[in-house]
Amino acid sequence: MATALITGASSGLGEEFAWTLAAAGRDVVLVARSRDRLSETADLLAGATGVNAEILVADLSTAEGTQAVADRLADPDRPVDLLVNNAGHGLRAGFLETTVEEEVAALDVMVRAVLILSHAAARAMTARGHGAILNVSSIASWLGSGSYAAHKAWVTSFTEGLAGQLKGTGVSATAVLPGLTHTEFHERADDDAYDELPEMAWLEPEHVVRSALAGVRRKQVLVTPSLRYGTMTGVVRVLPRTWVRAITSRRRG
Ligand SMILES: NC(=O)c1ccc[n+]([C@@H]2O[C@H](COP(=O)([O-])OP(=O)(O)OC[C@H]3O[C@@H](n4cnc5c(N)ncnc54)[C@H](OP(=O)(O)O)[C@@H]3O)[C@@H](O)[C@H]2O)c1
Repeated sequence: MATALITGASSGLGEEFAWTLAAAGRDVVLVARSRDRLSETADLLAGATGVNAEILVADLSTAEGTQAVADRLADPDRPVDLLVNNAGHGLRAGFLETTVEEEVAALDVMVRAVLILSHAAARAMTARGHGAILNVSSIASWLGSGSYAAHKAWVTSFTEGLAGQLKGTGVSATAVLPGLTHTEFHERADDDAYDELPEMAWLEPEHVVRSALAGVRRKQVLVTPSLRYGTMTGVVRVLPRTWVRAITSRRRG
């Protein structure tokens, strides 16, 4: 049976990817730091869908944690045909208030791990002649609002280049760029700046995951879930950068 490996599968979008893919009959490998949450999700998934749900406890801000996941992706005896690079987090404060260790850890999870895991997956998948890599970026990619936005800009740009390099191999690369989505993301980053926003500003994880997986099936390179965020992206991309910075650069992310 086809297998998907999902990082950040202990909550939010990653957990939703796991449920959607398992419901479609895929075996899943669930990666995150929280062993208890991963085990509980794996048990529930296996019980409800009958798929094989494996857990891999790893901290992607560390070299050892990332290598353990890369080794799993490279294992020829247990092929993974969909990698979802989803793990990520916001920063608890702006660049002048965070520690440099917090900044480097965020970069390691959202850039370094994405690079290493994509490399391992691309090598293994191209050798087999099929597979897909799905990177969870953000509409923050298009903003000039801090190191989180810079990491996501890297993910978007990296995925575009990777998609080109994979042409003709049978393997595809897609980046999904969600807008604000109801998950644990903002609470974990202790960011209440969005609390006052109307409900229509928010997406549900089910919608984001459905759009992202439809994009993977179509081998689409960039997917922006929802008409409103697609329209917003179109406008931001044609505005002068001075305007974009004036609106966004004081934000912490
Ligand atoms: N929610 C939004 O508004 C939004 C918008 C655009 C993009 N995104 C992106 O969506 C992705 C998923 O976030 P989410 O919204 O679902 O947030 P979430 O509910 O907080 O989930 C984040 C996941 O990442 C994992 N994670 C964090 N640090 C990790 C580390 N060092 N090693 C391994 N796993 C780690 C967490 O698991 P453990 O804590 O168990 O390790 C958790 O499973 C992120 O890349 C985020 O940047 C979110």
